[in-house]
Amino acid sequence: MNDLFLRACKRQRVSRTPVWMMRQAGRYLPEYRAIRAKNDFLTMVRTPEIAAEVTIQPVDLVGVDAAILFSDILVIPDAMGMNLVMEEAKGPRFPMPLRTRDDIEKLVVPDPSKQLKYVMQAIETTQRGLGKRVPLIGFSGAPWTLAAYMVEGGGTKDFRHIKRMMLDEPETLLALLKKLAVAVREYLEAQIAAGVDAVQIFDTWGGILAPDYYRKFSLDFIADIVATMRHEGVPVIVFSKGAHHALADLAAIGAEVIGVDWTVDLHDVRQLVGEKVALQGNFDPSFLYASPPRIKDEVRSILRKFGMGNGHIFNLGHGILPDVPVDHARALVQAVKEESAMYHA
Ligand code: CP3
Repeated sequence: MNDLFLRACKRQRVSRTPVWMMRQAGRYLPEYRAIRAKNDFLTMVRTPEIAAEVTIQPVDLVGVDAAILFSDILVIPDAMGMNLVMEEAKGPRFPMPLRTRDDIEKLVVPDPSKQLKYVMQAIETTQRGLGKRVPLIGFSGAPWTLAAYMVEGGGTKDFRHIKRMMLDEPETLLALLKKLAVAVREYLEAQIAAGVDAVQIFDTWGGILAPDYYRKFSLDFIADIVATMRHEGVPVIVFSKGAHHALADLAAIGAEVIGVDWTVDLHDVRQLVGEKVALQGNFDPSFLYASPPRIKDEVRSILRKFGMGNGHIFNLGHGILPDVPVDHARALVQAVKEESAMYHA
């Protein structure tokens, strides 16, 4: 097995920096679009053979050092009875958003071996297909990010409903987050039992909260999951996009790896928390529109920022955009492979 990624998660010695890309299984790949043309998104997610095939595509086509399961963070609310709808070109939607205490009481914590059995089957099928070539990452949304979709009913710019609930009815929102924390922990434990080699918690919307609110409504629940989850030997990555003010707190909750977006300086972050955790990031996803030579320069610059030694997993600072040329994604991966060995001499 190419274990560079797992070794880097544990800050062990590696011969070069490992690289993968958030959202690497997706529409920038023509081979993904060919399968997608014949199947809707949720069918792909719920069919283990298809999910496994597109999970493995970027390993073969782009040369990444880890696979991430093809699925979505919103399968948890779906399994809780919220009926996820993926609208073409519009993104995810829940027809009946959560607005009252009663809505939240009615939600049931799913049994991952029942309502989410298809995810566990996709993990098993993917691991057979990968044949130990690279590690497989499982994932979940963080409670706060899941709650934002569930209360808003879909994507939003102003987060008006969940922020109103946070101020006017904090106990209602805390009850939802508590339920979600149990669901996320049990879901990740089931993924580990099904065979994933690492797990990532995506807190895409952590950064929209001021520090005190972030701590109370997002970080505390992530910390509780990491502290209570059985994950021996399986690294946990926490990515709370935009929550720069909380990097030191995040590094203290027991996760092995902290994800960082591109708006922070990797050198500074390493100075702050590099003795405690490995760091994952932090290439600006939009820079993949630039030419391959400029992409290579930017890769060099990030490697230089992290500097000598172990504990860096090269990644984008957020998901790859759907219309990035595949050659540019390959150029990034190739540049990391060529340019990083000197930092591990
Ligand atoms: O990283 C990977 O390659 C694994 C697969 C993966 C998907 N979604 C596939 C997907 C992962 C890890 C996710 C996580 C996810 N989903 C997040 C957290 C990470 C992030 O990007 O912030 C969020 C917020 C979602 C919710 C979601 N799913 C949105 C907002 C959308 C629509 C936007 C879009 O990109 O189309 C989705 C749909 C989705 N999830 C697609 C893919 C490949 C596109 C579906 C299609 O083919 O049309």
